[in-house]
Amino acid sequence: MIKNKCILITGAAGFIGSSLTERLLKHDNLLILVDNFNDYYPGKEKQLKEILSEYSQNSDYKLIKGDLVKFSTLADIIDEIDYVFHLAAQAGVRYSINNSAAVTYNNIVSTVNVFEYSIKIPSIQKIIYSSSSSVYGNPVYAPVDEEHPKNPISPYAVTKLSGELYADLYYKEYNLPITSLRFYTVYGPRGRPDMAIRKFFNLMHQNKEILIYGTGTQKRDFTYISDIIDGLILAGEKDNAKGEVFNLGGSSPIDVNELVEKMYRITNVQKKIRYIEKQKGDVELTHSDISKARKLLGFSPKINIDLGLTNQYKWQTSEIVV
Ligand SMILES: NC(=O)c1ccc[n+]([C@@H]2O[C@H](COP(=O)([O-])OP(=O)(O)OC[C@H]3O[C@@H](n4cnc5c(N)ncnc54)[C@H](O)[C@@H]3O)[C@@H](O)[C@H]2O)c1
Repeated sequence: MIKNKCILITGAAGFIGSSLTERLLKHDNLLILVDNFNDYYPGKEKQLKEILSEYSQNSDYKLIKGDLVKFSTLADIIDEIDYVFHLAAQAGVRYSINNSAAVTYNNIVSTVNVFEYSIKIPSIQKIIYSSSSSVYGNPVYAPVDEEHPKNPISPYAVTKLSGELYADLYYKEYNLPITSLRFYTVYGPRGRPDMAIRKFFNLMHQNKEILIYGTGTQKRDFTYISDIIDGLILAGEKDNAKGEVFNLGGSSPIDVNELVEKMYRITNVQKKIRYIEKQKGDVELTHSDISKARKLLGFSPKINIDLGLTNQYKWQTSEIVV
């Protein structure tokens, strides 16, 4: 476990960033948290501040509200940083289809700025770049290992793959100790409101109809948030992860129809489902082969979909953020 270290987390107010912040605060680290609190969805600033007030003393963090596309946001951070977790990005495959140039600019420029900044901080032991399973596009074989061809089918996925290419460049040319992690559909407490599980629970809770894109036979490798946080920390700790790329997934995909069945069992409300046209950018299947992460990182996902969904529903109903 990473303890008593100085850690820069970008995108700290987001779903994954805030969960990582919470975990690392529990282990006496000094956190430098950067986020521009973009308006993609509301409530993240408040959510982060609640975590900070619950888990930290004032000396445990510095919160910087700033945009990473401007290098000046990072230039003033002169601390002796040990680890960088770069989670900031404009997420959302579908959003990127209608906002291609803005997403491209945001995700690529902010990533290059984080790497450029890291060159100037010699104390950095590891930089973790958060990539995505979307870099693979529609699989030509499954489960998908890291060597699988990359065929992104959305601007978002192209930005994530570009970030990996920059990670490789900065690793090889500047000796930056970067590891890229390809996350598979992450869900759980604080899950993003644009993601299917949060949206469906919200609608079910209000006894409203849910909309399924396509036939619902598309399969997703849903991965619980605490497993992703474990993977992030393991990748930070392991020396042999430098310059490497890893899939981080639950590795047990289910189709959307099966997912919705499980969710109706948990909510115990009457089914109201409508099927609508498949969305551009959506792949048919995601299915991670995590042998490499198991072997080199000791990554081992622990939370199965039934428990994970139950936890998320409890959180959504208790927070009344449905
Ligand atoms: N959630 C998933 O299923 C998933 C899957 C694959 C990859 N990822 C990647 O994981 C990371 C975190 O995703 P998330 O689901 O927590 O998303 P999120 O939208 O909840 O969090 C991203 C955070 O980054 C911040 N941000 C965006 N652009 C910024 C900028 N230019 N400067 C400063 N802050 C900025 C946002 O305000 C937000 O708080 C992203 O890089 C995303 O691409 C997520």
